[in-house]
Amino acid sequence: MYSIIDGKKVASEIKLEIAKEVAGLRAAGKKAPHLAAILVGNNGSSETYVASKVKDCEEVGFKSTLVRFTNDITEEILLNKIAELNNDPDVDGFIVQLPLPSHISENKVIEAIDPMKDSDGFHPVNLGKMMIGLPCFLPATPFGIVELLKRYKIETSGKNCVVIGRSNIVGRPVSILLSQKGMDATVTVVHSRTKNIKDIVANADIIIAAIGSPSFVTADMVKAGAVVIDVGTTRVLSSETKSGFKLAGDVDFVNVAPKCSYITPVPGGVGPMTRVSLLRNTLIAAARG
Ligand code: GUN
Repeated sequence: MYSIIDGKKVASEIKLEIAKEVAGLRAAGKKAPHLAAILVGNNGSSETYVASKVKDCEEVGFKSTLVRFTNDITEEILLNKIAELNNDPDVDGFIVQLPLPSHISENKVIEAIDPMKDSDGFHPVNLGKMMIGLPCFLPATPFGIVELLKRYKIETSGKNCVVIGRSNIVGRPVSILLSQKGMDATVTVVHSRTKNIKDIVANADIIIAAIGSPSFVTADMVKAGAVVIDVGTTRVLSSETKSGFKLAGDVDFVNVAPKCSYITPVPGGVGPMTRVSLLRNTLIAAARG
């Protein structure tokens, strides 16, 4: 029988911890931590994520600001806004929701963010510090995944961990964190050019699926007793929901779950942990300031 890793529940517990820390800061005469988010255009998934982030801020007593731009905004205007937030002493941390329209360079935008206000942990300075194990803002989804494994006391030391996907925001950084001292996993990253993905994944004690391809991980790829972390959140049409959409994970949950020891659902697994990691990074930024 498998156990569900309940990211929603763990995220709620962490939010309570954060709310307590915010109350402590306020009692000491400090201002509420302030997270700002920049949203360009009206991509459906991005709208949902950002609305959730604003709601999370309210729940823990943070101030939040949402800055919206239309799709045709120039890169220069966006970079100017980032400079403004970098210099605003009231803003502790901020994010620029990705993806951005193709005429804007995501790398240029990320590099323009002050690393000390980089709540998403995407700036090269933070990624470089993470690489060598220095204190830094960790990328929100990898941070959330590691926290889930720790809170469920899932052994990672010496385990074969296969990460599916090599994105800058999930696959690559989570592979670094899991191989670090303390986590001590043996990590393999597989991607679109990997040969024999099925055979490699079938050897995994822990599978982290982060490719954005619904039901990519099927039951025949999963070893009995494996731990499966599903990072996929593809928005697909659905007749089951009011909105007409639902989130689809990278794992064929119905058929894979019975083979697992632990598995994360979608939604309610990694997603809420990503959001809570963002709050945690912002709290660290606020406590420093
Ligand atoms: N797009 C998908 N995930 C994320 C995230 O964690 N942060 C930002 N800024 N954009 C995203």
